[in-house]
Amino acid sequence: MRTYIFYILAIAILFVASPVESRRKKNPKCDPLDLDNADCTDCTAKDGTAVPVPPAKGYDKKTVCRCTCDFGCVRKQGATERECDVRPMRWKGGRGIDCACRPCASPPTPPLNYYNSNCTGMTNIPFGTICVFECPAGYSGPTDETVRRMYCENSNWRWSVSTGCTADPVHGGWSDWVDSACSVTCGGGTLTRTRTCDNPAPAHMGDQCLFEDNATRGLSESKTVACNEDACPTGMPTIMPTGSS
Ligand SMILES: *[C@@H]1O[C@H](CO)[C@@H](O)[C@H](O)[C@H]1NC(C)=O
Ligand SMILES: *[C@@H]1O[C@H](CO)[C@@H](O)[C@H](O)[C@H]1NC(C)=O
Repeated sequence: MRTYIFYILAIAILFVASPVESRRKKNPKCDPLDLDNADCTDCTAKDGTAVPVPPAKGYDKKTVCRCTCDFGCVRKQGATERECDVRPMRWKGGRGIDCACRPCASPPTPPLNYYNSNCTGMTNIPFGTICVFECPAGYSGPTDETVRRMYCENSNWRWSVSTGCTADPVHGGWSDWVDSACSVTCGGGTLTRTRTCDNPAPAHMGDQCLFEDNATRGLSESKTVACNEDACPTGMPTIMPTGSS
C-alpha cells in the first residue's frame, strides 16, 4: 500500500516539476527586481533593445535594469543599475538602490501672497504628496497648477513657486446721484446733480466710472437739472432760494 502511494506521488512530482525544472536549467531567468520605494522596470536587453514591463518569464541574462526612487524619495546609497547574471542566478550590482522617503511634518509655508494650499491642516504628510497653493479672495494666480505647487520629498518641500498672486482689478461703481438745493421754490430753477465713483472706488488698475455719455470716464460727474417748475402763486416773489426765508 505504502509503495503504491509512493509511486503515485513520484509520478505526479515528475510530471508537474520536470518541465519547469528543465526549462529553468536550460534558460534561467532573473525575477523582476523588487526594491522598497524604487522602480526598476527601465530595462535593456543584451542587444540594447528595451525589455517590456514586466517580461512574462523573467529577465534574460545580461539584461540591465535602471532603478529610480519613487516620487518624493531621494537616493541614499546603492547602485542605480543592476545586471542579470545567471551563474549563479542573481542581480549584480550590490544590494541595489536605497531610497529615503520620510514624510513631511507640516504643510509648506505659502509663498508670494499665497493664502494656503490643499494641504492646510494636515500633519505627517506622506512623501510624494502634492500641495497646490490658492490665492486669497480678490487675488488671482497663474492658472497653470505646475507653477503653484510643492511636493513632499523625504521630509522637505520641493519646487519653489515661480509666480505669486496679484490683486484683481476693482472697477469703479457710481454712488447714487445727490441733488443740491433748487435755486427757486417755484417758477422754474435749476439744481446740480452729482455722483461720485466710490461704490466701489476703482483699485488695482480697475476702470474709473463711465459717464452718462458712455464715452468718457472719471471719478465724479455733475449735471444741471430743472427744478420747481410749478408756477408761483400770484403775489409771491418768483425768485426765493430755499432755506433763505
Ligand atoms: C491637491 O490638489 C492637487 C491637484 O488638484 C492634487 O493632485 C493633490 O493630490 C491634492 N493634494 C491633496 C493633499 O489633496
Ligand atoms: C449709454 O448706454 C446705456 C446702456 O448701454 C443706454 O441705456 C444709454 O442710452 C446710453 N447713453 C448714451 C448717451 O448713449
